[in-house]
Amino acid sequence: IANDKVLVTFKTAEDTFEVQGTIGESLLDVVVNKDVPLDGFGACEGTLACCTCHVVLTEEHFDRLAKPEEEELDMLDLAPELTDQSRLGCQVILTKEDKPGVVVKVPSVTRDARSL
Ligand code: FES
Repeated sequence: IANDKVLVTFKTAEDTFEVQGTIGESLLDVVVNKDVPLDGFGACEGTLACCTCHVVLTEEHFDRLAKPEEEELDMLDLAPELTDQSRLGCQVILTKEDKPGVVVKVPSVTRDARSL
């Protein structure tokens, strides 16, 4: 695996997708660039308006990231299946600390906050 790459494993209730993300990309960028087939994921294209990019990180991954901004927290509040390690995938950027890889859970229920 190249120096600027991070192995990203997306886990849904039914499937596991393993792709190589690039440091500096958001988890949403990885889903889009690698065509990860997550239905409806990232509906607002990273503009913090939807919460369909809700992901659940490992505790270790969550803890080493900067805390979410107010805007992200407000949007996360609308996400079904919220957990203590929940983030919005469009706000989680891959860093070299994420090498060799990260595991990201994708909740089965998503909701587009724009339709509330
Ligand atoms: Fe809509 Fe992340 S893609 S909030």
